[in-house]
Parts: sequence; C-alpha cells; structure tokens
Amino acid sequence: MTVPETRPSGAPSSRLRLPERFRPDADFSLFLGQALRSPQSVSALAPASDRLATAMARCIPEGSGPLVELGPGTGKITRRILARGIAPADLHLIEINDEFAGLLRQRFPDLTVHHCGAQSVGSLGLPPLRAVVSGLPLLSFPAPLQARILRAAFRQLAPGAPFIQYTYGPGVPVASRLMRALHLRARRCAVVWGNLPPAQVLTLHRDAG
Ligand SMILES: C[S@@+](CC[C@H](N)C(=O)[O-])C[C@H]1O[C@@H](n2cnc3c(N)ncnc32)[C@H](O)[C@@H]1O
Repeated sequence: MTVPETRPSGAPSSRLRLPERFRPDADFSLFLGQALRSPQSVSALAPASDRLATAMARCIPEGSGPLVELGPGTGKITRRILARGIAPADLHLIEINDEFAGLLRQRFPDLTVHHCGAQSVGSLGLPPLRAVVSGLPLLSFPAPLQARILRAAFRQLAPGAPFIQYTYGPGVPVASRLMRALHLRARRCAVVWGNLPPAQVLTLHRDAG
C-alpha cells in the first residue's frame, strides 16, 4: 500500500498553497476586521490585488491636475496611482472608515486624507478633477447613496474626465435608471482575471451637452 508522503514539520504540502498573488498580505487581517464590523461599507474580504490596483491606475488618463480616490481602504490603489508619477499634492483621498483614514494618514503623510463620505466630494473646495478613482462598493449601496455620490463626483469632475470604478460583477455597478438620469456611459477599461474574484475596471463618462 502506498502511504502518502508526510512533511516532517507537519507543514502543509506546497501543492495546497495558493499562488503568491492570491495569498493574503499584511493588511489582510485589518481589512477583514473592518469588513466584519462594517460589511455594507467595506463589502469585500480583502484589499484589491496588485494586478487590480495596477489596472485601476493605468486607466487614469495622461495629463495633469488633481484627482480624488474614493474609498482607498489600506491604500493598495493609492500606491499604484503614485507609482504612475502623480504628484502627491494632486492626490486627495476620501475615506469614511476611522481605522483606514488613520492608517492612510500614517502611510501617506504627503497626501491629503479627507475623513468623510464620498458624497461630500463637492464641499472640499477642490478644483475641477482630472479623474475620480473609486474603490467604493457601489453595488452594495442603496440607490439614493449611489445617486448622491455620482452626482457630487460628476459636478466636481472636469468636462470629459472619467469616474474609474472596479466591480466584481459582470455588468455596470450603477442602476441603469441612474445612468440615464445622469447621462452616463460606461466603457470597459480592463478585465483582471488574476484577481480573486476576477474584476473588471470601468470608466464612466458623462455625455457632453
Ligand atoms: C471594497 S473596499 C476597497 C478598498 C480599497 N480601495 C481596495 O481596493 O483595496 C471599500 C472602501 O470604501 C470605503 N467606503 C465605503 N463607503 C464610503 C463612503 N461613503 N465614502 C468614502 N469611503 C467609503 C470603505 O471604508 C472601504 O475602505
């Protein structure tokens, strides 16, 4: 009879280990704790993967000017935005969660962290924005909150500038009635199969006129 091979230390076989890119990183337990405490607002069990964060940052159009990241969490996407060469003075973070806002201030002392809801983006005295990069779980928000956030964001965006959003669903994570009311169109910017679960990155644009 063949006896299955046992590792001397009792450590699990490497065949059972997840590929590197799917393994939890150092922020995983903080993120999971906040997800269990505020399931509707965090609405994910782990931060975005490096691949997803990179794909989000790549969808920012070339150019200059300020941009806002909504719901940065532990700052996975923030790092990739900065790695694209965006000046720290141009990047504003808006995070509603106390723990994440505190962590972001420690981690990114050169950035402005606004500890408030994304729906307040219009009352922060910002100039017209080059882009909004959103890690908000729009799909799990009630329709009135989606509407308040998107109205405020598109009032603050420069004409033609995108609202960049990732989603784990197959469609657009905004109610179609709201898309029509705000004259928004969605374009797919990237699909990230190497995220768990796979994600798509969309840009929302407002029709001119
Ligand atoms: C799915 S997590 C994404 C975190 C991070 N962007 C990432 O991809 O790893 C959603 C984030 O949005 C934040 N959030 C939820 N509702 C918000 C709101 N109304 N305004 C600002 N941030 C909000 C949560 O606290 C959390 O950090």
